[in-house]
Amino acid sequence: MNQADWKNKLALIRDGFLSGLAKTDAAGLAELETRHLGRKGDLTLLLRELKDFPIEERKVLGALGNALKEELAAKLDERKAGAGAVDLKKSQFDLTMAGYPFPKGSLHPLTLTINKMYDGFQKLGFTIAEGPLIEEDYFNFEALNFPPDHPARDMQDTFYVDLKDASGKDLLLRTHTSPVQIRTMKSLRPPLRTVSAGRVFRSEAVDASHSFAFHQLEGFCLDRNITMADLKWTLEAFMQDLFGSSAKIAFSPSFFPFVEPGAQVAVSCVFCGSGAGPEQSRRACPVCKGTGWIELLGAGVIHPNVIKACGYDPIDWSGFAFGAGIERFAMLLYGIKDMRMFYENDLRILKQL
Ligand code: PHE
Repeated sequence: MNQADWKNKLALIRDGFLSGLAKTDAAGLAELETRHLGRKGDLTLLLRELKDFPIEERKVLGALGNALKEELAAKLDERKAGAGAVDLKKSQFDLTMAGYPFPKGSLHPLTLTINKMYDGFQKLGFTIAEGPLIEEDYFNFEALNFPPDHPARDMQDTFYVDLKDASGKDLLLRTHTSPVQIRTMKSLRPPLRTVSAGRVFRSEAVDASHSFAFHQLEGFCLDRNITMADLKWTLEAFMQDLFGSSAKIAFSPSFFPFVEPGAQVAVSCVFCGSGAGPEQSRRACPVCKGTGWIELLGAGVIHPNVIKACGYDPIDWSGFAFGAGIERFAMLLYGIKDMRMFYENDLRILKQL
C-alpha cells in the first residue's frame, strides 16, 4: 500500500462512519463504534498498517489517522449524550414524580438567641470571650469576692467534680459565666469590653423555668471612670436593639458579691406594651403577670475587691458587669413557655421556630 491508497482508505472509513451514524438509532451506536474504533475496527487496523511506512510518511499519515479517530469519537459522544435524554423519556423513570423531601437542619433556638445577643453587643464594641465549663473555686467564687464559707455561695448550689485544682480545692462545674470575666481581666489589658455566653450548672430541681444546666451571657467593661450611667446606657441600647426601640429598662437594688451597687434589671414587657403602657392591657398579660416588667439580668458596678483580685488598682480602673439567663431571652423571643422544650429537641417544636 502506498500513501495515496492509505489516504483513500481513510476517506472511505470516514464516509462509511458518517452514513452509518446518519442511519443508526441509539441501539446501533455501540456497534458502529466497534466497527470503526474497536480493537478490530477498520480505523484501528488501518492505523496499524502505518508500521510499514518510512518514518517521515508515518508521521504525516499518523496525524491524519489520529485526527479522524478523535473526530469519530467526538461524534459518537455527541450522539450518545442526545440519545441518553431520548432514552430516559421512554424508560421506566417517571420524570414527573415528586422527589424525596430532604429536610434542612437549622440552628437551635438557644444558638440563635446567643448569636442575636452577641450581634447586639458587638455593635456596641464588645468582643467575645470563652472560658472552661469545669472551673476552679478561685475563678468561680473567690476572685469574685465570695470568701470561703460565705453564705452568698448558697445562692448558687454547686456541683463539685471529683478532681482537685493545683491548690488542692475540688474543681466544680461553673455556676455562672462570671469566671470568664476574671479570666479575661487577668489575661488582657484594659480597656476591655467583653461578652461571653455558655453553659452553666446548678444543683436545682428541674421545672418549667429551672434546669440543672442552662445558659448565661455575661458582659463586662473595665476602663477609666466607668459608672452606673454607662451600664444603664449600654443595657438600654442593647435591649432596644433586641426588642425594638420602645423597650425600656428598670433597675432595682439587688445583691451579688462581685458588684457594688448591684441591681436586677427588668425590660418593659414586649407582649402587653411597655412597662409604662396602659394598665388595662397589662393586667391580663401572662408573661409579665400584670407588672409590665420582665426581670432579665443581674448587673452592677464591679466591686473594688474583684478589680484588685485581677491585679488592677480600683482607684485607676472601674467597670460594670451584667449576667443574663439566655433561656429567658429565648423564651421571650420565640414565645416558648417551658424551658424544658429547649433540651428535649422535639423536632415538632423546633420546626415551628
Ligand atoms: N453571675 C450572676 C448570676 O449568675 C449574674 C450577674 C453577673 C450579676 C454580673 C451581676 C453582674 O447570678
